[in-house]
Amino acid sequence: MTHIRPSKPMRESQISMMEIVMPNDANTHGNIFGGRVMSLIDIAGAMSAVRHARHAVVTASIDRLDFRAPIRVGQFIHLQANVNYAGRTSMEVGVRVMGEHPLTGEMSHTATAYLVYVAVDKQGQSAEVPEVVPESEDEQRWYAEAEERRARRLADRLRPLLGG
Ligand SMILES: CC(C)(COP(=O)(O)OP(=O)(O)OC[C@H]1O[C@@H](n2cnc3c(N)ncnc32)[C@H](O)[C@@H]1OP(=O)(O)O)[C@@H](O)C(=O)NCCC(=O)NCCS
Repeated sequence: MTHIRPSKPMRESQISMMEIVMPNDANTHGNIFGGRVMSLIDIAGAMSAVRHARHAVVTASIDRLDFRAPIRVGQFIHLQANVNYAGRTSMEVGVRVMGEHPLTGEMSHTATAYLVYVAVDKQGQSAEVPEVVPESEDEQRWYAEAEERRARRLADRLRPLLGG
């Protein structure tokens, strides 16, 4: 019997999170420290992946992460995430991090991160997830770009085995 994988619109995996940066999140310059931003990115990414898969997930990889602008104590940190692409058991989630000045409303782009989550069962074995259906033009672009990143990650993982 042919197995037909379920599919879900990309927009159903969209999540958004917001927090105020507190002094205990900060480095000695009064900016949120990178590790705290990375933790929030992983939390937002995992929620988005679980929302798509409706399954337990683990973080398999995080791509290179550049911090473009600081977020200061007292400012708001926003994280928006959605599943860009789903393989058979893995999902690429894109997380965009923005800072907001609470008094002026000025927004700054702090980072964009791409993470891969894998759905796993109770034995830690990878489990199938639904396909992602991109609908809007933006979503179709994110899907196509995620597919290219997936191919690059796979090539990077295979390179040591192939001696390249
Ligand atoms: C992620 C994990 C489940 C993958 O296990 P595995 O035996 O390599 O699984 P498989 O070979 O069956 O691959 C499963 C999927 O994961 C993907 N994958 C595995 N390792 C990956 C990596 N490093 N980066 C990106 N994707 C990866 C595979 O491409 C495959 O995707 P697909 O089904 O969509 O094609 C396993 O390595 C693991 O449990 N790692 C620890 C995760 C963890 O504990 N994270 C928390 C921080 S330590």
